[in-house]
Amino acid sequence: MTSEGDRLAELAKRRGFFNQSAEAYGGVAGFYTFGPQGAALKDNVEAAWRDRYVTREGHMEIDAPTILPESVFEASGHLETFNDMLVECAECEESHRADHLVEDHPDADIEDAEALPNEEVGTLIGKFDIACPNCGTALAEEPVDDFNLMFGTNIGPGSSSPGYLRPETAQGIFVDFPQWAEYARNQLPFGVAQIGTAYRNEISPRKSIIRVREFTQAELEHFIDPDTDEPPLERVEDVVIPLYSVTEQQSDDGGVQEMTVREAVDEGIIETDWLAYYLGLSKRWYERIGVDMDRFRYRQHLSGELSHYASECWDAEGELGGDWAELTGFATRGSYDLDKHAEYTGEEFSVFQQYDEPVTVERPTVDPEMSFFGPEFGGAAGDIVDELASLAERNPDAFDSSTVTLDVDGETYEVPTEKTGFTIEEVTESGEQVTPHIIEPSFGVGRLVYTVLAHSYQQDKIDGEERTRLALPPEVAPTTVGVFPLMDKDGLGERARELANDLREAGLEVTYDDSGAIGRRYRRQDEVGTPFCVTVDYDTLDESTVTVRERDSTEQVRVPISELAETLCTLRDG
Ligand code: GAP
Repeated sequence: MTSEGDRLAELAKRRGFFNQSAEAYGGVAGFYTFGPQGAALKDNVEAAWRDRYVTREGHMEIDAPTILPESVFEASGHLETFNDMLVECAECEESHRADHLVEDHPDADIEDAEALPNEEVGTLIGKFDIACPNCGTALAEEPVDDFNLMFGTNIGPGSSSPGYLRPETAQGIFVDFPQWAEYARNQLPFGVAQIGTAYRNEISPRKSIIRVREFTQAELEHFIDPDTDEPPLERVEDVVIPLYSVTEQQSDDGGVQEMTVREAVDEGIIETDWLAYYLGLSKRWYERIGVDMDRFRYRQHLSGELSHYASECWDAEGELGGDWAELTGFATRGSYDLDKHAEYTGEEFSVFQQYDEPVTVERPTVDPEMSFFGPEFGGAAGDIVDELASLAERNPDAFDSSTVTLDVDGETYEVPTEKTGFTIEEVTESGEQVTPHIIEPSFGVGRLVYTVLAHSYQQDKIDGEERTRLALPPEVAPTTVGVFPLMDKDGLGERARELANDLREAGLEVTYDDSGAIGRRYRRQDEVGTPFCVTVDYDTLDESTVTVRERDSTEQVRVPISELAETLCTLRDG
């Protein structure tokens, strides 16, 4: 029996969804081209994403470069930590993901070896006597190393200006945060979205377009004030979400718990309300684009699995051929990225938040003019003043007694309080600088396309004949309508071609087909998921009506041509 993956790969290549790139040159693993059907499907998924996460949420969309200088990735932490576990076979020199070898071993029963330290994964390779999948040599003696996934390049001639192809679109948003803050008139919360290419030099690309080296991400970076901004949970609180949480994974029975967004928040299963909001919103969206909800779950990251920037993360996962694949990561990134870019650039990566009313606050300070220290303090006088200023901010109570005890460079000093110039001033403040926290839903578009194809793939029988059908929602189907003349004679072909052009002018994706029996033409459209087929017959010439056939039910109705375009647009747009 052919597997789901094989069936889909065959259909994808034959009908123009996707194929390995540059096959005439032997192809390079991890690079795919979307053909005419695939590119249209991908476009429609992106349009549905834009509609949901940009337009309807009121966020802004940008388009940043895909190459950034090395300093950006030094600041973001990718240079140091964006690594996968590599084990290289000493015999054939083939590289493998060490964690995947362990996960794939039938006796290991480990779901996420990536969360383990390298040495432990190395020990497991030895324990299970795992061999190189390429040549069969035992890998037990080989070290498990870190391999950085970023593709490096040089910007301009020479090597003095190193850069990297972005491994996530997000950094292009973060580096220009001061621009977006100004554009948003410093009003939190606001969101910046981007759909674009990301690159990862995966050690072993696999599973068709699921793990590739160049792919499209659709990311939303939602900047919030962590102290005041609440998500509009009431909009999604009744949405039932399937949660596969840390506690469940650790319990004996395991499995998914179905609960409403509100229950998940009240029971503390999802800690960040904003993440709960996006999980609810996105569950509806996945359904809308054709992900099968019986093959879908949200899985919480284990603490060792969290990215270097995240404090809580849930993945949306789709079941594909018996395995679960990550479709989207929903992460709480805190202020990590903005803090880092501020630290490395010395620029302001925060926003000034105006209070409703000015407030008077007490500000403890030390006056450096007054804080004079004699020779008994040696050369440490300057450092002592700095430490006093910092202590005044951190712990003004330390100045309550007659001496202040200070620790400077490992030396303890007893400073008479009267010599510190300590005062508490009353100042009026109109607002404060706030470094926003980031809530990030990050979607892999190729994985969504693949999942929608896999989940919509159906085989049934029509009039005793087998047919393959993609039950795609009309909104994402690459073609909305197939237009056929009953036969290409007696003016039927001409009338059908004219109708096809009129429907294209009305903004519909149309395929015209006059070759072969009408049943065959239906099958061809069923196989690429076209939801409607229109047939021009002799009655069309007399009455100006056509038959419209619906893909899944195969039901046919007669529709006046004057209403056709509007009816089809309404059916597509829902
Ligand atoms: N900015 C956060 C981020 O990049 P991620 O979980 O590493 O998070 C987000 O990636 C999404 O990008 C994943 O959920 C997945 O859908 C997609 N993705 C990641 N690596 C991929 C790869 N090698 N091939 C295809 N899609 C990938």
